Amino acid sequence: MKHPHLKLLLLSVFLLQAGQGQSASADEQVTHNLSEARKLAREFNARLRAKLHLALAEEGPLGAIKICATHAPGIAERLQEQHITVKRTSERLRNAENAPDIWEQRILEFFEQERVAGADPANLEHYAQFIDEQGTVFRYARAIPTGAECLMCHGDNLAPDIAAELESRYPEDKAKGYKAGDIRGMVSISIREPN
Ligand code: HEC
Repeated sequence: MKHPHLKLLLLSVFLLQAGQGQSASADEQVTHNLSEARKLAREFNARLRAKLHLALAEEGPLGAIKICATHAPGIAERLQEQHITVKRTSERLRNAENAPDIWEQRILEFFEQERVAGADPANLEHYAQFIDEQGTVFRYARAIPTGAECLMCHGDNLAPDIAAELESRYPEDKAKGYKAGDIRGMVSISIREPN
């Protein structure tokens, strides 16, 4: 990271802002962005699940491995035009390219604490609008629960052919050993206001 101190500073600015009242128009913008981000997170998860189910039925688990690797399937281009980015991240990564930034890292820890305290991972979300060197950015995070259908590739007892395929593609894989109900990671959405 080029400017670790700057990032930390920005994070504290955001935390300060989150605790203070905002002007009416900023509130409206947040409300608008929040509903957009919620819609996207739902769409993203639904599409990924639908694609996984289809691939599992048609090609079996080995063929489906590449599906979970698809980044924002089918919606990536549209989002780019709208200054929106969608990514998935986790504390235990399969693909290091999905690594969390500082904000995401803190939210992942927060979600995990909430889960341990009894919250349902399906309902965990967090958002903030803050200002950085490029302007205003709205950030939204939603936890991704581990379902039973995820365990064949993220659980404890992987079939030997799946284990071998994952091992060859992701030698540093940390995304195994999950149980149903765990938090597998989160969807992270940024909506940037064009300057
Ligand atoms: C058929 C195998 C398979 C199934 C089933 C599967 N995944 Fe994955 N998952 C993968 C692979 C492979 C990757 C690495 C993707 C990449 O290269 O970006 C991955 C990556 C992820 C990531 C990104 C973070 C990381 O570790 O890199 C999340 C989040 C995730 N999976 C959640 C799920 C959830 C939730 C389910 C169930 C609804 C699921 N997966 C089902 C194979 C699978």
